[in-house]
Amino acid sequence: QTIYLKDYKPFGYVVDDVHLTFKLAPNSTRVVSKITFSPNPDATDRQFRLHGEQLKLISSKINGSDVSPVMLDDGLLVDAPNETFVWEAEVEIAPEANTALEGLYMSNGMYCTQCEAEGFRKITYYPDRPDVMSVFTVRIESDLPVLLSNGNPVAQGEGWAEWHDPWPKPAYLFALVAGDLVNHPDRFVTQSGKDVELNIWVRPGDENKCAFGMEALKASMRWDEEVYGREYDLDIFNIVAVDDFNMGAMENKGLNIFNSSCVLASPETSTDANFERIEAIIAHEYFHNWTGNRITCRDWFQLCLKEGLTVYRDSQFTSDMRSAPVKRISDVIELRGRQFPEDQGPLSHPVRPESFQEINNFYTATVYEKGAEVIGMLKLLVGDDAYAKALDMYFDRHDGQACTIEDWLQVFEDATGRDLSQFKRWYSQSGTPRLAVSEKFEDGTYTLTFKQHTPPTPGQDVKEPQVLPIAVGLLAQDGTEVTPTTVLEMTEAEQSFEFSGLDAKPIPSILRGFSAPVVLERTTSREENLFLLEHDTDPFNRWEASRTLAREGLIAMITDGVGSDTLWLNALKTAVADSTLDPAYRALLLSLPTQSELAQTLFEQGVTPDPMAIWTATDTLREDMAKSWADILPALVEETKVTEAFKPDAEQSGKRALAASVLAMQTRLDGGAVAKAQFETADNMTLQLSALTCLIQADAAEDALKAFYDQWKDDRLVMDKWFGLQVGAAKPADAANCAKALTEHPDFDWKNPNRFRAVFGGLAMNHAGFHNADGSGYELLADWLIKLDAKNPQTTARMCTAFQTWKRYDADRQAKMRACLTRISETPGLSRDTTEMVSRLLG
Ligand code: ARG
Ligand code: ZN
Repeated sequence: QTIYLKDYKPFGYVVDDVHLTFKLAPNSTRVVSKITFSPNPDATDRQFRLHGEQLKLISSKINGSDVSPVMLDDGLLVDAPNETFVWEAEVEIAPEANTALEGLYMSNGMYCTQCEAEGFRKITYYPDRPDVMSVFTVRIESDLPVLLSNGNPVAQGEGWAEWHDPWPKPAYLFALVAGDLVNHPDRFVTQSGKDVELNIWVRPGDENKCAFGMEALKASMRWDEEVYGREYDLDIFNIVAVDDFNMGAMENKGLNIFNSSCVLASPETSTDANFERIEAIIAHEYFHNWTGNRITCRDWFQLCLKEGLTVYRDSQFTSDMRSAPVKRISDVIELRGRQFPEDQGPLSHPVRPESFQEINNFYTATVYEKGAEVIGMLKLLVGDDAYAKALDMYFDRHDGQACTIEDWLQVFEDATGRDLSQFKRWYSQSGTPRLAVSEKFEDGTYTLTFKQHTPPTPGQDVKEPQVLPIAVGLLAQDGTEVTPTTVLEMTEAEQSFEFSGLDAKPIPSILRGFSAPVVLERTTSREENLFLLEHDTDPFNRWEASRTLAREGLIAMITDGVGSDTLWLNALKTAVADSTLDPAYRALLLSLPTQSELAQTLFEQGVTPDPMAIWTATDTLREDMAKSWADILPALVEETKVTEAFKPDAEQSGKRALAASVLAMQTRLDGGAVAKAQFETADNMTLQLSALTCLIQADAAEDALKAFYDQWKDDRLVMDKWFGLQVGAAKPADAANCAKALTEHPDFDWKNPNRFRAVFGGLAMNHAGFHNADGSGYELLADWLIKLDAKNPQTTARMCTAFQTWKRYDADRQAKMRACLTRISETPGLSRDTTEMVSRLLG
């Protein structure tokens, strides 16, 4: 059954208040609800239909009298009065049997919830839609020591606790936690002097991994006050870490629930990348308190309203806390690695989709990351001051409401007087625009002519021109900037922009900071890219020049059998040895395009990608890099040594990132001697894991893998790394076998999403391994997706995306992947989630 944006209708009733009582028991939890409904003056249809799934209805009453609802597949229907009334129901649910991890479920003896998007209907009968908002009072009855819900605690006694959330919210923000937990407490005094109690709740034994998350939380709270003027609005803010969780984390009002991998951190067990990600996710969920909770979405088609904006806000936060250019480059790598393939394949959908079968399938890189890019473009077009003004207006006008993208764009129109109707296409048109450029220089005038074009995507054959902010700077031959960054506003399919009064033909730096999420189709000469790598004053484009040279060099190695581009290797060597540049930035400069990205580039050039040839070219280039840079490695080792106590900040982690690349080169030269020594002496996970990675790649990791296992076998999150790394770093011919062997390991708990993703995410990320010609990677993943679907549809459907690029490859591989997808689709009882994904993939 497909749901359409155009069919939106408000619910016939408003909810005045909600009282819930939970009598917790693993297999027979009773949920008693008492809810006051009143006719909704904005609606005409008074049908009283409540959502409910997998609930056992014990009793139901309206105004105190028993009623007999009509039971439907997805809820119930009752005759209700056309005036205010009280609905009461008691239902029974079985949290222990809930392996889908949606609704109320159990993880290691602890009760927890995940209600976004439509999990609340597995807890009780309710209008489970984000435009129905209400004030909740919750009573929890259980012998477990810690009982939490949203809002403020109001009362508690032996075996019970009561919570009241004064802020009206949709049901998807409901949360409940009960368990034997310990807390890491702190306090925060808000801008206006309100004292807030903060807690991170974890299982006993994890309390030493909370300090970093707590600091990140306080920094986020301060940042949102300073930058967006947004203050926290309850007396208490709780975060809970849960081991079994389908996604990263969830912004439930006053009670954020986190996948433990996204909050627990210590130097011994977490890498620098983990620390940075945890900081960003804590900020993301906290920022949702305003962009998501106080202002929520009218319906799930508007998901990008809260997610795009909140991702944008958390990226601003990270840029402020760390390095802005490094964050921008990392985000673009992610965007190209995850969103571009989605937008260019069978799963392509607009930032605001117009239909879906299962909304959980639309928590995508397009909604999140492209959604954030759209906000970045809007800010670039209107300017920082107008952006701030529009945001103030948004919070002012829409606080307490469930909104749409139209509401969002309206505040920008009102704040700036701009017409954003064309800009709105970013929300409705799917696909990645392609931008071609040509140049002309005549009589001191330099002209750039752009042509934009978006290839057809599923369901959208014809595309209209979009508004593209193109940031451009012009450089003189000596490297000085003759025209500083200027934002050109392109609105036509083809458009020219002139720069006059120039002495000589300049060298353009186009799409600075990646000012629009497009594919730039410009054949720039190698000389020009080398010039930009040396001179561009825009850090993003300087990096981009090197990335382009790397990609073009690798493509030439693959298609023409030529050797590595030594001119580029030498230019890059100079940049990497330049100690005036931030080490983190230099580490990014020497990261190569991913093998999947190379496959896409070849495919676009009309060449069928051969994963093994791509792997070999990449390996050869790495080998040549190590050999020709041998003389600068000792100085880099010295420079990147960290002598102070471990800190996961931008400075130290930048040094370690560069050191990891250096170690990889050293390992190619010495077979693993330095890596082995580093592995044995490492006192933090970043160094330990980078050494282990090198040893695996050098085929010298047998002892180290065993030692690592013995050291960390009792630490779930570190063991996920152990599982994931082996598959991810395996040689192409071994990857599927390695994954298969690991599924037979006693510690492989396939029902735990983190562990499942460690192995199969590792396999899918191992490009040449997953696409090994014998199809073993495809078959293994399909077997396990079929198995997991019966337990956990959400994680299964999400992992089907491993097949989203299947049409890039040769006929044999395509046939093998199609056969796997067909086999999945024919599984009896396949979930709605996976059914929708596979049918879209098959197209
Ligand atoms: N709103 C959460 C976040 O972005 C994601 C929760 C998604 N959950 C889901 N089952 N789709 O932080
Ligand atoms: Zn979010």
